[in-house]
Amino acid sequence: MAEHPDTPDFAPLDSLLHEERVFRPLPETLAAALVSPARLRQAREQAEADPLAFWEEAAEELDWFGRWDQVLDDASPPFYRWFPGGRCNIVYNALDRHIQTAAKNRLALIWEGEPGDCRTLTYYELFRHVNRFANALKSLGVRKGDRVVLYMPSLPETVIAMLAVAKIGAVHSLVFAGYSAKALKDRIDDARAVCVITVDGFYRNGRVLQLKQVLDDALLLGGHAPETVVVCHRAHVDVEMQDGRDYWYEELVRAERPQCPCEVMDSNDMLFVLYTSGATGKPKGIVHTHGGYMVGVSRTFRWVFDINPTDIYWCTADLGWITGHSYAVYGPLMAGATTVLYEGHPLYPQADRLWSTIARYGVTILYTVPTLIRMLMRFGKELPRKHDLSTLRLLGSVGEPLNPEAWVWLHKHIGRQQCPLLDTWWQTETGMIMVSPLPASLLKPGSVTRPLPGIVADVVDAAGAPVPPDKGGLLVIKTPWPAMLAGIYNDPDRYVEEYWSVIPGAYLTGDVARKDEDGYLWMQGRADDVLVIAGHRIGAAELESGLVSHKAVAEAAVVGVPDAIRGEVAKAFVILAEGYEPASALIKELKAHLKRELGPVAVLGAMEFPASLPKTRSGKIVRRILKARERGEEVGDVTGVEE
Ligand code: WT7
Repeated sequence: MAEHPDTPDFAPLDSLLHEERVFRPLPETLAAALVSPARLRQAREQAEADPLAFWEEAAEELDWFGRWDQVLDDASPPFYRWFPGGRCNIVYNALDRHIQTAAKNRLALIWEGEPGDCRTLTYYELFRHVNRFANALKSLGVRKGDRVVLYMPSLPETVIAMLAVAKIGAVHSLVFAGYSAKALKDRIDDARAVCVITVDGFYRNGRVLQLKQVLDDALLLGGHAPETVVVCHRAHVDVEMQDGRDYWYEELVRAERPQCPCEVMDSNDMLFVLYTSGATGKPKGIVHTHGGYMVGVSRTFRWVFDINPTDIYWCTADLGWITGHSYAVYGPLMAGATTVLYEGHPLYPQADRLWSTIARYGVTILYTVPTLIRMLMRFGKELPRKHDLSTLRLLGSVGEPLNPEAWVWLHKHIGRQQCPLLDTWWQTETGMIMVSPLPASLLKPGSVTRPLPGIVADVVDAAGAPVPPDKGGLLVIKTPWPAMLAGIYNDPDRYVEEYWSVIPGAYLTGDVARKDEDGYLWMQGRADDVLVIAGHRIGAAELESGLVSHKAVAEAAVVGVPDAIRGEVAKAFVILAEGYEPASALIKELKAHLKRELGPVAVLGAMEFPASLPKTRSGKIVRRILKARERGEEVGDVTGVEE
């Protein structure tokens, strides 16, 4: 049974308390919106009266090889199965079906490398690349259901590989290219990957990161050994190739035919596994399937981003995160839209890279993260003014709370006070956007507004009872939704425990929210020991075990502390081993150690060396006490805690 998350009196952030501004959509926005206010009202009513009919209609907008027996099989909760019996393949909807329409010659992808090189692919070109690589994977012996790890940055080949793997019915698992050898090894092991796809190297912040080398290091750590490794050329650096195991991508695809049919999948067959952090233990492989995921992502992408065929849509998220999966690849491609991908660092070679990129391609829709906006705000409003941003018509944000100050800056200086600014709330687990305005919605800076039609979310106390307006509580989802996770890879018990046991019958998001008098939701951060640093999730437990793996550390406790740019950073309380003294060289060494162990996501701010850590009688560290002290909040109930 999972532990109850701490439920103190969730104090809303100061700036959120006093936020009362309201932004109404412009008449021309309302007139042009794909989902008008009237349509939205009707959708809400329909979804409330008959949620299954609502989602069935969304499913009918896509192509299937065979119709489902039922919309939702809820016979054994929480193992819900969407569209059971349905035969489909998400890649058919993302690629094959467009080849028979006017979308065939439209740009599917505009890619820009960090040094400034650019590649574009039409739907037809992408289709042929995917087919070639799909055939190559088959030649290498990859079969339906096999897991293939993609350790790649945002490149055209990454999209090609995702789609090729899915097309033949295998399961992709992307590992963010910033992750360390150790983190990569853990994921290859857990997924028991038969094949790993990577690149020689790539560009990040003016340097070449040698990715194949990191993979070699990971494989030397032992554990599960993949049968084959595919390496794409990107930075043209020397790499070691192991005979019989390692193959060059370009050599593999050269001989393959550009035709390959989609494997016919059942709706509930696995599409991908994506690892994310939980409050306890090791990262968990979140499983998504073909049918429900494609319905949920397709519907939300079209409705939220109001997409039309002339849009140039740019989601700045790395493909290694769920945002990249759902809203840089599958969502836009299923809609037949043009999606922009960028390889490198958003501030390279200068802080106006984002703005110059928008101007260069005439980006109309920008979907990005609050940390980046807060970083760019520091450079002032003059920087974006140097570029023509007049093509922008819609702005989106995701990953962490977008504070009202950043909201208003983005809306005013980038959106000309004309572009709707949509703060979208969702998670790796939800697969699709759950709480968000649509372009025609009334906006309040700092609020994610209301659940989308078909989503039943609520704010409850620790006993599951709804809390009154303006009081903080746990955000839960009360009914299943199509793109929901199918489970945790190879760990059904953990799925039940972590998500469905704390508030019986409801999905626990792990977030704290407050609902105002209008039913608008205001996100307040995590309720559990998960940190969200610059929009990237990492567990306190992972950071702690990373620290303890250093010989100088006897014990460690990590909590999140507020940070003006990154939203939150980690602060560590460390008890040193015998013979070690706190010193700045040691602090530096520990921070570097953590980055080596976990990758650049592990950003450690301050470090403190207390005489002891607050613990329960059974020896568990009580992080909540450290956290409350750091934030100057009430510590709450401390019975059972020994210092
Ligand atoms: C956690 C999920 C799915 C997008 C990328 C992150 C936080 C996400 C918002 C938002 C406030 C947000 C939550 C959530 N989060 N979007 N709009 N406002 N917080 O996916 O890595 O699975 O992280 O990110 O804490 O639980 P993820």
